[in-house]
Amino acid sequence: MSTMNIQMVDLTTQYKKIKPEIDEAIHRVLDSGHYILGKEVGEFEAAAAKYLGTRHAIGCASGTDALQVAMMALEIGPGDEVVTTPFTFVATTETIVLLGAKPIYVDIDPLTYNIDPAALAAAITPRTKAILPVHLYGHPADMDPIMEIARRHAIPVIEDAAQAMGAEYKGRKVGGIGTFGCISFFPSKNLGAFGDAGMVVTNDDRLAEKVRTIIMHGSRKRYFHEILGVNSRLDTLQAAILNVKLKYLDQWHEARRTSAHFYNRLLKAKEITIPFEAPYARHIFHQYTLRVPNRDKVDERLTQKKIPHAIYYPVPLHLQQAYLNVGRPTGSFPQTERAAADVISLPIHTELTEEQQRFIAHSVMEAMEK
Ligand SMILES: Cc1ncc(COP(=O)(O)O)c(C=O)c1O
Repeated sequence: MSTMNIQMVDLTTQYKKIKPEIDEAIHRVLDSGHYILGKEVGEFEAAAAKYLGTRHAIGCASGTDALQVAMMALEIGPGDEVVTTPFTFVATTETIVLLGAKPIYVDIDPLTYNIDPAALAAAITPRTKAILPVHLYGHPADMDPIMEIARRHAIPVIEDAAQAMGAEYKGRKVGGIGTFGCISFFPSKNLGAFGDAGMVVTNDDRLAEKVRTIIMHGSRKRYFHEILGVNSRLDTLQAAILNVKLKYLDQWHEARRTSAHFYNRLLKAKEITIPFEAPYARHIFHQYTLRVPNRDKVDERLTQKKIPHAIYYPVPLHLQQAYLNVGRPTGSFPQTERAAADVISLPIHTELTEEQQRFIAHSVMEAMEK
């Protein structure tokens, strides 16, 4: 078979399977008229906090906003440094720079693609205001050594768990390990809304209250503004949808893990590096990402066969044009630069069939032979 109508993420089939529940939730909100901060927001926040095992979960408008408001709550601004990874989605750096602070990059561990704790200590300076690890692709960063360095220097940790809602580090859900966890519910995420949505989680009562104030224009009492804020609330409709979908999340993670393990078996070739799952990790396979030595060929072959695929991310953040003023020269982070040249992500979602996976894997293998 030459084409199969494979999708990178299949959101509509997933929706159709739970359509009555979702439609009911949406109509409940429409009928209520409480479109801003309706009761579904509080209900979803409580359910998410329980799921993640955190004291507080505060909905906001996106994962990007979650990062920004967490940093605002920590009063990060001009002159401050935030230590992070250059191998991530732009939002991680963008929010640091928007607040006037400077991203200080640390190279990645080539197995997990996450910040290398061994290189982290050397990046800490008296100006470091936070450490910002990312749990890329749904695989946790190695949090114990990161937390140890943070404790030693009394620096807060902001976990970018945008891609990792439900991933576990030594049996604990990520996001609740650091001072803050920032989550994205972008539609293609493992727990995806039907539009933009995000969340900040924390176990710190004072910081939770501060984030709640910041996302409401810096106000706790209407029209009285105590601190600089933004407008970043979680939409009631999105909360209602997310509350339905959260019940299925573990089952969906399981489906992705099964698909990932099946790919692993199909893609046996010594030139292909399949995703690594560290002994401390429960990977949720937001992405299924390979490393291949001849990525252009694989890219070309998959395109020819109309198989969707993606490169997350082709240009590391220290080399991105918009951020060259805070960047570093080529060669500064060799593991990151190598990964950016080698990685390729294959379709993975809850609706993927074994037949589709066989076809995809076969096509990758064909490109390896040429
Ligand atoms: C690592 C990472 N951080 C932050 C974000 C930002 O999330 P959002 O798209 O919800 O603003 C994303 C995702 O899209 C992400 O993948």
